[in-house]
Amino acid sequence: MDYHNKLVLAPMVRVGTLPFRLLAAEYGADITYGEEIIDHKMLKCERRVNEHIGSIDFVEKGTESVVFRTCNEERKRVVFQIGTSDALRALTVAQMVCNDVAAVDINMGCPKSFSLSGGMGAALLAKPDLIHDILTTLRRNLNIPVTCKIRLLKSPQDTVELSRRIEKTGVSALAVHGRKVADRPRDPAKWSEIADVVAALSIPVIANGDVFEHDDFYRIKLATGASSVMVARGALWNASIFSSQCKLPWEDVKREYVRKSILWDNDIKSTKHTLKEMIMHYSCLELAEGKAVIKSNSLADLAGRILMIYARSHAEAFLGWINPASRGNSKL
Ligand code: FNR
Repeated sequence: MDYHNKLVLAPMVRVGTLPFRLLAAEYGADITYGEEIIDHKMLKCERRVNEHIGSIDFVEKGTESVVFRTCNEERKRVVFQIGTSDALRALTVAQMVCNDVAAVDINMGCPKSFSLSGGMGAALLAKPDLIHDILTTLRRNLNIPVTCKIRLLKSPQDTVELSRRIEKTGVSALAVHGRKVADRPRDPAKWSEIADVVAALSIPVIANGDVFEHDDFYRIKLATGASSVMVARGALWNASIFSSQCKLPWEDVKREYVRKSILWDNDIKSTKHTLKEMIMHYSCLELAEGKAVIKSNSLADLAGRILMIYARSHAEAFLGWINPASRGNSKL
């Protein structure tokens, strides 16, 4: 996999499942990260080919829940992100998926307490020897690219120093989220500190933070000198951000997402979460559609509920076009 000059869908828990990754790719994403999956969870899974929908599933033994679903169509661009604090566990998980994905990535940026308390995510940033151990173990034993995604450290010098150590492990690229562990999503991403990392490394750096419009891909590249750009929220709210033509109406993107969710039999919790995020950004959950999404308890239920709403809004639009004189005859 080549990491130069790429538009990248960021890893997003509950969002970055197969239908969302395919959606982003359809609009122009070159590389699509899956949601972070914790090594312990993945180790309970077995690989199954799902002939029914044409997917490859990693299914948790006992609960039968699908922990990771992929398909051949995305094999050359999907990145499997692992949440881990241990080189051997990370390697075992990477070996389970390495023939079905394009690359593996280690999450070194998650600031949530469940990650930190397990020594994962941003907790790794304080343990450069463990980072070295995990990345070199993966590099030596896998024949697909290995990458990691970090946040900024307290000072630009610290970030650069850690990035240099990471580069020495032989990773193919480094994704840098331009925020510190204590920063909130509303705090502006520090593109200048990503630029410091780019200047210090030879491997491709994937710049991440505050890309909300297609033009921002060029702006962040210019500001940081980064080879590639990764986007999370901008894509979640409207995945057509990847398209070089103008953004599509979010309603169209949302409907295509629902269609793909149904086609790929997506986990209902993931579909609901993603739809709620889209709706909350542009509209509000208290309206009919938001309520329908919240109440749905399966994909079939969701499809039925929102079909009624779309049908009604189409019918209302048609009625609006009808000559007022003939409206009285309408049975709608
Ligand atoms: C994230 N982020 C994230 N990062 C990561 O490495 N693994 C993950 O699983 C997740 N999950 C996740 C879920 C959701 C809903 C959001 C919004 C974010 C962080 C994400 O990849 C990215 O680094 C930040 O959101 C900053 O990028 P944007 O949003 O400014 O483009």
